[in-house]
Amino acid sequence: MLTASEHLKFSSHSESETITIARKLANSLKPGDVIALYGELGAGKSVFCRAILRALGVTDQALPSPSFAIIQEYQGEHCPVAHMDWYRLNDADEIEMLGVRDFFQPPWIALIEWPERAAHMLQHHVIRVRISPDAKDPDLRSIEIERD
Ligand SMILES: Nc1ncnc2c1ncn2[C@@H]1O[C@H](COP(=O)(O)OP(=O)(O)O)[C@@H](O)[C@H]1O
Ligand SMILES: [Mg+2]
Repeated sequence: MLTASEHLKFSSHSESETITIARKLANSLKPGDVIALYGELGAGKSVFCRAILRALGVTDQALPSPSFAIIQEYQGEHCPVAHMDWYRLNDADEIEMLGVRDFFQPPWIALIEWPERAAHMLQHHVIRVRISPDAKDPDLRSIEIERD
């Protein structure tokens, strides 16, 4: 679905359409990939991440939001996956202390909500997913996926 330097744009009309788009992205992921998810509160970042976790073969019954723990670690079918939410991070030192860089290399795949909280931590090669709600339709989202 996604090769080098690609920029894709989708419209999603429901949570289930967003899940289908996330699954397609998941099929092209490999260890070492970092996915940064941008979008306001309620945009659908966690919906998108959970769909990726499932598509990567994470079978845990509960996929709790990492907003409190900041990092949740899972075992996928072929590799471990880290789901992070940096919303509550206070400063750059805090993120350094969490050792998040370890998750930016194989064997990990890393999913990051609110990456802008510590943008300097992101390496150059990141897959950016931007989810934008519509001003009128509460179920409509524009989803842009970009690999630089
Ligand atoms: N097209 C859509 N794609 C994703 N979520 C949607 C869509 N339409 C409605 N929703 C709803 O929006 C909410 C997104 O929540 P969540 O994924 O937790 O947001 P975020 O993690 O970005 O704060 C969910 O309640 C979901 O059911
Ligand atoms: Mg979330």
